[in-house]
Amino acid sequence: MDMQPVEISPDIFWIGVNDHKTDLFEGLWSIVKEGVSYNSYLIKDEKSAIIDLTKELFTDDFLQQIQSQTDIQKIDYIVINHVEPDHASSVNKIRALMPDAVILCTERARKMLISFYGMEENIQAVEDGQIISLGKHRLQFIYTPNVHWPETMMTYEPDRQILFSCDAFGGYKTLSGSIFDDDRADLDEYIREALRYYSNIVANHSNSVRKALSKLGNMPINIVAPSHGLVWRKEAARIIKLYQTWADYGDNGGEPFITVLSGSMYGNTNRFLEKVLEGIKDVGVPYEVFDVARDQIAYILPALWRNQGVLVSAPTYEAALFPPMTSVLQMAAQKKAFHKKVARVGSYGWAGGAHRTFENLLNDLRWEVVDSFEFVGVPKAGDLIRGRDFGIHFANRVMLAQPVSSQAD
Ligand code: FEO
Repeated sequence: MDMQPVEISPDIFWIGVNDHKTDLFEGLWSIVKEGVSYNSYLIKDEKSAIIDLTKELFTDDFLQQIQSQTDIQKIDYIVINHVEPDHASSVNKIRALMPDAVILCTERARKMLISFYGMEENIQAVEDGQIISLGKHRLQFIYTPNVHWPETMMTYEPDRQILFSCDAFGGYKTLSGSIFDDDRADLDEYIREALRYYSNIVANHSNSVRKALSKLGNMPINIVAPSHGLVWRKEAARIIKLYQTWADYGDNGGEPFITVLSGSMYGNTNRFLEKVLEGIKDVGVPYEVFDVARDQIAYILPALWRNQGVLVSAPTYEAALFPPMTSVLQMAAQKKAFHKKVARVGSYGWAGGAHRTFENLLNDLRWEVVDSFEFVGVPKAGDLIRGRDFGIHFANRVMLAQPVSSQAD
């Protein structure tokens, strides 16, 4: 255990654990370098409560966190905001040690606790908006379906105005030293990891995020205490506003920047791409380049989510689009990274075929095609001149999109 409990408000403690062991979050998203924290909270009162549990692998660390603050037999309630195993797979081991504690969750979560963990005993389904008193503290339950799973809720402490938001407002990256936003010199990294978590995990549910944010509305929130990443006590409003911005990207297509998706078998497409990038630089539109055959999708998605322009640069392969590019575009569609402006370039050897795949993918992407250019074999001098103009034209089109946020981190 590398972190001790931290009091975030009188008698309310962060009791999270760091995960440095998992390489792929959800078995899919790389967190090798960053890790992730599973944040849980303990409220000590006449009746004591734990809010969210932990991943089963870290049950012992989690129990140590509780025991350093209170006798585990004194826990009256276990609030399960979300059944996903990163937060709840320890439930059987925890329940064995505190059989009398009542699990509080949504009705839908109650059913999922049975299907995921065979857990049926001593569960009380709470209503949306219901308040339970612990003594000095109260807990109010706010249904937020599909942020992240359909059973998900948040828990609000109305007197201290603390929102235990579960996945919402959270991010990758383990915690060390301070857990608070106002104590971090590397706050920008946590914001970057929050956007990465959003684009990897939450983006598909952006409509539900918008509904949840509207439901939170003007509720006074002093502290945002998510189940991953930093606790926001100084700038709670900042992370909430960022979330609104990120959710809105699903509708407005994002900021006037360009994501360059690049793949090349023998360097011919890349040679042309260099000229296109010179044109984009001339216009001055910011861009990020990804190698679709080598860069992990977990790092490509935040750019695809945030940037309105997409440059697809890849050759024909076996009469179809370069397969790693197809895979990235399919994931963009799955995550609903819609309303982008796209241009495509690529080399082909004899008959082509990449464009057909690309057009089929567009059926699911709702992207506007600005321009497209293919050449056979090696790009010739005339092609390369055209490449620069292609970049200028595309960048100018992307630049027409107004910035939707002044705080696009
Ligand atoms: Fe952090 Fe949806 O789990």
